[in-house]
Amino acid sequence: MSTMYQPSSVFPCVKLFWFFIISTVVRNVSAYIVDNNPYRHFVTLDQHGKYELEWLVDWDQKSVIFNVTVATKGYVGFGLARKGKMSGADIVIGGVNSRGKPYFTDRHAIGNQLPVIDTSQDWTLHTAWEKGNKTFLSFSRPFDTCDADHDLPITDDTMTIIWSYSEKDDELQYHFQNRGGYDVYILDPDLVPRKIDKVYQKTHRTETTDIRVFQMTRRIVMPVEDTTYWCSFHKTPTSRKNHIVGWRTVLPKESDVRHIHHMTLYRCAAPPGASADSLFEGLYRSGGGECYLLDSPSHLLTQYCKEPIHVWAIGGRAIFFPEHVGLPISESGSDYFMLQTHYDNPNLLPNLKISVTLEAFYTDKLRPNDVGMLQLGQSIPGSTSIVIPPSSLDHVIYGHCAGACTERMIPKGGVKAFAAFLHTHTSGRGVRYLHRRGNEDLKWIANDNNYNSKFQQFRILHEERRILPGDQLLQRCVYDTTDRNGTVVVGGFSTQEEMCTGYMYIYPRSPEFARCRSESRDETYLNRLGIENTTWNQTRRKMVITSPTQFAGLSVNDYVNNFIEWDIETRKAFQREHKLSPQISQCPRFTSSISVPQRALNLQGRLERGTSLRDTVRVRGFVAPTKNTIIDSDFEHVSINPIGILQYKQAPQCLRDLRKKTLRKN
Ligand SMILES: *[C@@H]1O[C@H](CO)[C@@H](O)[C@H](O)[C@H]1NC(C)=O
Ligand SMILES: *[C@@H]1O[C@H](CO)[C@@H](O)[C@H](O)[C@H]1NC(C)=O
Ligand SMILES: *[C@@H]1O[C@H](CO)[C@@H](O)[C@H](O)[C@H]1NC(C)=O
Ligand SMILES: *[C@@H]1O[C@H](CO)[C@@H](O)[C@H](O)[C@H]1NC(C)=O
Ligand SMILES: *[C@@H]1O[C@H](CO)[C@@H](O)[C@H](O)[C@H]1NC(C)=O
Repeated sequence: MSTMYQPSSVFPCVKLFWFFIISTVVRNVSAYIVDNNPYRHFVTLDQHGKYELEWLVDWDQKSVIFNVTVATKGYVGFGLARKGKMSGADIVIGGVNSRGKPYFTDRHAIGNQLPVIDTSQDWTLHTAWEKGNKTFLSFSRPFDTCDADHDLPITDDTMTIIWSYSEKDDELQYHFQNRGGYDVYILDPDLVPRKIDKVYQKTHRTETTDIRVFQMTRRIVMPVEDTTYWCSFHKTPTSRKNHIVGWRTVLPKESDVRHIHHMTLYRCAAPPGASADSLFEGLYRSGGGECYLLDSPSHLLTQYCKEPIHVWAIGGRAIFFPEHVGLPISESGSDYFMLQTHYDNPNLLPNLKISVTLEAFYTDKLRPNDVGMLQLGQSIPGSTSIVIPPSSLDHVIYGHCAGACTERMIPKGGVKAFAAFLHTHTSGRGVRYLHRRGNEDLKWIANDNNYNSKFQQFRILHEERRILPGDQLLQRCVYDTTDRNGTVVVGGFSTQEEMCTGYMYIYPRSPEFARCRSESRDETYLNRLGIENTTWNQTRRKMVITSPTQFAGLSVNDYVNNFIEWDIETRKAFQREHKLSPQISQCPRFTSSISVPQRALNLQGRLERGTSLRDTVRVRGFVAPTKNTIIDSDFEHVSINPIGILQYKQAPQCLRDLRKKTLRKN
């Protein structure tokens, strides 16, 4: 059961046929801005620099222009695919033939045969030429062509750009080498500077800006454990306030890509009366150690390193901030950071040297706004909230940040979110941030109905979103466990277990609050599950049952796989409870050093039509937060019900006038 990152990913048509096969290779793809337009993108799609793609999102016209320059005199194939499947891919094939005449057709893939020409031709060729051994094509299409049968709409979801080319124009059938796929959010802005690699010049300065790079590098011999979380400590490179304005993760070798699942960077803060140097300098020099996940306090002082400032996970590319925001460092002259790195070693390989560098791009040209980060979703998986029934196609789990929390966390004028990161493990198929104000869901802050856990890009939002005190933020995660051989998937830290979490970059920063998550401790749910209490076993890296005694010592995973009868009724009940049961939303304040009396705010959940009262039982007797965390002492407990609300509906994208144009053509 290897769930580690497979660099040559996903496409099932590998052996079968000739056309597009995904072979994602470890390479640096530098996307850059031209004309300061964040919607103009440039990528080299192959390893040898032969297939170059430039695209521009035209929001006025709701269309995308693609320019491809390919080192071939033969034909060029280009397409869009979803769900990691070639079948259903939307493809164009074009070029300039030996008589100098351009050709270009809109096609669709059926299985692995030669893509079939669509009856409705919806892509428009603007320019085609051949010079030397290069072919250039410029073509465009609307976000939605209205050809629901044979074209794929371009949406906010992850899409795979598939590409191919041949040396000849007339031999569509034969070319086994030149093809690949590239996962991307086509419509997202990209603010990464054009010449990011220039930062590597000896001065560590870019040519034209004052951006420097701070590199946090970890080289370790990977522990022979399925899952390792390693915490290393890093020290700020400056002694004055600077702003971090961008991030990139560098994984030099393919094995590094394969074994590093994610990294989270936290800022460390000494408690009142203690000096940061005396607490963290030793750890910084020591190289850190294994993070004991749910043990706190720990010898690594992880309890003082709670403010997340960046997260990266597999497939993520560089991210740069808009020019009016920066993440402050060294405000008090010094700063320490803890980098938590998740290593995946499911085959227990020994003696593997793994290296990773997280780069922070920073500047002393301070920007007007200080950025902070907010973690959302489901509480990290100490709880039994995530139990996904076997062979589920679309099991939904919510994580909440309650209005009572944002009321305390967010200043009167609100905060603005400008970037979002959506995280699940391998069973996640869709992830969304909902934004609720009063009884109404506003437009989703971020949405991906084609989530690919191997492509976890921190997304710059198309529009910044103001979040006000009292607003509720919900993360909705959809899981597909049909490829898990009939096993139940539970929440946990390992890649085979699941999470439903994520982050937003916001401004202004509020360092006291960085986390707003929830879990189910609802009695109905826990009774159905049949688990009364659990504890984290660090040796096994699993949640283990302590009560009831007849199951004590079993992991939650073993228990739900062996002692629950997953009939249709049970599955439905779990789904209903995961959607409707009240949850406890926690929003710890990080700076209070002395325990504050807990307030328990149980808000009555809302009733959806047709739901029984049982579904809104107030939470009683929930487990108290771990007593020994020094900083997490002030919690809000809020029970909430995610349903019964005026829901947001996405407007249909297909525009009629475009449809008419197509009909005229036929
Ligand atoms: C594509 O190429 C055309 C023709 O060379 C050029 O005018 C246009 O600016 C290019 N567009 C993009 C998005 O690169
Ligand atoms: C054509 O391609 C060959 C090899 O791919 C290369 O050596 C040559 O320089 C190219 N010629 C031109 C005019 O670009
Ligand atoms: C699926 O589960 C069955 C029964 O537990 C086992 O025999 C089989 O090897 C498993 N298949 C895979 C592909 O893991
Ligand atoms: C659960 O078990 C822990 C010890 O493992 C104990 O401290 C805690 O009080 C128990 N909680 C409940 C609700 O029984
Ligand atoms: C954790 O599990 C191991 C292996 O099963 C066991 O030996 C150990 O006693 C457990 N630790 C705790 C604290 O229960």
